[in-house]
Amino acid sequence: MTKRLLTWTTATLLLPLALAEQPSAPDAVAAPMRDLPWGDLNFLQTTDSHGWHAGHLQESQYSADWGDYISFAEQMQAKADEQGVDLLLIDCGDRIEGNGLYDGSDPKGQYLYDIVREQAIDVITTGNHELYQEDSAAREYNQTVPNFKGKYLASNLDYINPQTGKQIAMAARYRKFTTKNKGIRVLALGFLFDFTGNGKNTVVQPVEKTIEEQWFQEAIREDVDLFLVAGHVTLNGPEYKAIFKAIRSQNWDTPIQFFGGHSHIRNSAKYDSKAYGLQAGRYMETIGWQSIKGISGGGKKEKKRPKEHEPRASMSFKRRYIDTNLFGYHYHTGLNESTFSTEHGKNVSSMIHDARKALNLDHSFGCAPRNLWLNRAQYPGNDSVFTWLEDEVMPSVVVRDDRKETPRIAITNTGAMRFDIFKGAFTKDTTYIISPFVSKLLYIKDVPYKSAKGVLKLINEGGPVFSSADMPPVSQLAPPEQMSIHADIIPPLPPRDFRSSNGAQAPLGSSEKPDLVPGYTTIDAVGDDGDDTLHEPIPFFRVPNCIQSDIAFPKEGEPENVDLVFVDFIQPWILLALEFSGQSYTKDDVEVYMEDTLTELMAGWIKENWKKDC
Ligand SMILES: *[C@@H]1O[C@H](CO)[C@@H](O)[C@H](O)[C@H]1NC(C)=O
Ligand SMILES: *[C@@H]1O[C@H](CO)[C@@H](O)[C@H](O)[C@H]1NC(C)=O
Ligand SMILES: *[C@@H]1O[C@H](CO)[C@@H](O)[C@H](O)[C@H]1NC(C)=O
Ligand SMILES: *[C@@H]1O[C@H](CO)[C@@H](O)[C@H](O)[C@H]1NC(C)=O
Repeated sequence: MTKRLLTWTTATLLLPLALAEQPSAPDAVAAPMRDLPWGDLNFLQTTDSHGWHAGHLQESQYSADWGDYISFAEQMQAKADEQGVDLLLIDCGDRIEGNGLYDGSDPKGQYLYDIVREQAIDVITTGNHELYQEDSAAREYNQTVPNFKGKYLASNLDYINPQTGKQIAMAARYRKFTTKNKGIRVLALGFLFDFTGNGKNTVVQPVEKTIEEQWFQEAIREDVDLFLVAGHVTLNGPEYKAIFKAIRSQNWDTPIQFFGGHSHIRNSAKYDSKAYGLQAGRYMETIGWQSIKGISGGGKKEKKRPKEHEPRASMSFKRRYIDTNLFGYHYHTGLNESTFSTEHGKNVSSMIHDARKALNLDHSFGCAPRNLWLNRAQYPGNDSVFTWLEDEVMPSVVVRDDRKETPRIAITNTGAMRFDIFKGAFTKDTTYIISPFVSKLLYIKDVPYKSAKGVLKLINEGGPVFSSADMPPVSQLAPPEQMSIHADIIPPLPPRDFRSSNGAQAPLGSSEKPDLVPGYTTIDAVGDDGDDTLHEPIPFFRVPNCIQSDIAFPKEGEPENVDLVFVDFIQPWILLALEFSGQSYTKDDVEVYMEDTLTELMAGWIKENWKKDC
């Protein structure tokens, strides 16, 4: 690690090293807090960070950066050592795509891999985003895997070596180790959900099949004190159910701790009284905290299963979702402005600052006149990013010179947008944050309007047309946050008296209810006391899978034919919907409509229309 840090440019050395969090990050706001419940074995988890390692520069609640997280982990490690307990760090993938710190360089991730590797992660896995593009999968194989040698686990993922064409394990299938203070023997596995959209140089094996492999069957027969299953897998999906069942079939009483990811939510799950799961949200907004009390090292595996079905509940599993800001980090470590940051953490904050400067991420394209929300506002509506896209952006940018008079329908999936737009400076970074995808616009010429007009409805309703076909569910076209949320709106919680709620405290030294900052108010399988910070709830509205703009339509009546324009990601669904509407098209009928990506087109629109300096 030191070797890497010494390779920095001399510019770094001139920066004030007192710097922690990014200089332009807003200061954290004080809020009522809940303590972290410590156990004998404790975990910090990150997942779905998507390049947000500089922290959120427009939201004080999530303004700490990866360097601050390194300071936090090092201070917590010192606290663990002091108490003679253990602390392990977990990361469950999707570290890339979604922020200029990754997407803003060519090749992508020129700075990110060196920043991420500075954290001492004990178990790290792959997400689906590392595997969409062949070049990012290759970087994962030739950079991240060696950066986390022995800690990177790939229980169901292979890589195809470009030199030999041979299919080989992406990394170790599992890892066995003993914790340093309590001597707890851990067997760790690392999974990816049954993902099928990966590039040609990786092979994802379905979890059900992996379970049948000999190495797995041997691993789950090992005599250990804990099975640790980390993965880019939702906690309630079929993959973890199958793994839980397989481990329990050999170990009726051994504790199992799952860590999940992918759906971008804070979540926990209870599989039985000694098997729990935790998922730490997204975008470096959340650090997950999990503790197990009552677990010890070197326990003999109990061969005989007593009459009752459940393992004996001799342990307690507790969780917290930590907001990533310095106020909370200081609170949980008992340290302050002058004592919290470690030299290593500060160094990494400087590394991030240098990378952002080199990438020119603060370069302003314009000034957003208002907030535009993904799921926080009703669609359609003036505050919805999708209404803005549909009514203002797409009609003006989806234009091809030789066909500009031809009426057209432009369809994009809502999942192509990843984040809210905040009123204020719209920077180079913002473009990657709201839409990191390299989706090109494709089209099919002269589609009869009577068929084209039904496509959107079919894709949004899903239904049997799609479920019978061999393709992922249409819901995958919407933002991943919707995956686990079924209500149209999560209504605000009734006001609560947090002085009397579980473990809550008001460190502000006031008995008055302070103004709460809007933020997470998580309700999970364990209860509603998971968040470390008490917040005002934020509403959540569902949005459709896809949205559509009708462009250059005749003033009256319907066009006979239209150009059907769409982002490349949704091509399979478009073709199937057309077929269902009585028009058979194939891949060969699809052509490139414009060379620019949707993100570039959007940035162009913003430069034109939001010119003002903030
Ligand atoms: C890693 O993979 C990338 C993408 O294929 C390639 O450009 C790079 O040269 C590789 N690096 C090493 C050290 O093999
Ligand atoms: C931080 O804590 C140290 C040690 O407790 C104390 O000496 C110092 O005055 C505190 N600094 C601030 C800025 O509160
Ligand atoms: C931090 O960076 C400085 C300057 O490059 C270096 O001398 C020092 O060893 C680094 N410290 C740590 C803990 O990484
Ligand atoms: C939405 O914006 C339009 C144009 O600015 C305005 O006419 C309309 O009243 C707004 N609607 C709502 C519900 O605010």
